Amino acid sequence: MPIPQLPKRLLACALLIDKADVLADIGTDHGYLAIYLLSSGKISRAHLTDINEGPLSRAEANVGEAGFKDLCELHLTDGAAALAESGADVYAICGMGGELIADIISRAPHLRDGSIALVLQPMSRPEALRACLFDLGFEIERELHATDTGRHYVCIRARYTGKCHTAPLEELCFGKLGAELSCEAVDYLHDRRRSLLRASEGIERGGGDASRERGLIAYLDTLLDK
Ligand SMILES: C[S@@+](CC[C@H](N)C(=O)[O-])C[C@H]1O[C@@H](n2cnc3c(N)ncnc32)[C@H](O)[C@@H]1O
Repeated sequence: MPIPQLPKRLLACALLIDKADVLADIGTDHGYLAIYLLSSGKISRAHLTDINEGPLSRAEANVGEAGFKDLCELHLTDGAAALAESGADVYAICGMGGELIADIISRAPHLRDGSIALVLQPMSRPEALRACLFDLGFEIERELHATDTGRHYVCIRARYTGKCHTAPLEELCFGKLGAELSCEAVDYLHDRRRSLLRASEGIERGGGDASRERGLIAYLDTLLDK
């Protein structure tokens, strides 16, 4: 079967996954990430979970159609805690809010294991997710950005080290940015700047204090050479 096409944000997540044995895709919905990784030979088996029956049935149908029924186990469950004995060495938690992803990680203590990689793609509040990861003792190994049909996404690979820490607000909001930014990272940061500008103007119109948003905009301006 040909390798299926993925939306760019999931392709970026797939790029963050080194060859692994078993994938756990939490909140799988359609199952495309697992199908892609099985087709490309990057993983040998997958556990697909969802909290809702509809998405899980969709994943089951897609996995069957792709010919991977025997390589996939489906679980109707909330979060990742039920997979403690699954042997998965990479967990993908993608396409959900940053706070929900953080909550799923917090409720699955077996993920605090340096042999497990987490690949995370928050749709919102990445700062809450990074803060939670650092607080629990995870390190962020790599981040990739993706632009797809006019929307901008960040994808994060993290691993447990046991060293709990905090980070400056700028790093929590935008990640640790290298000296050279990819085109996708620049697009992403411009998009974040536009959102922050809208938010700060709204706060100021209501007579509130937007110094946090203004400070973040000033930080982005230095990065983006505005
Ligand atoms: C927007 S879809 C994302 C699907 C896929 N991961 C992706 O990135 O394209 C979010 C999925 O997560 C599931 N979900 C939401 N909360 C969950 C939880 N606590 N545990 C497992 N699945 C959850 C939803 O039912 C839905 O199918």
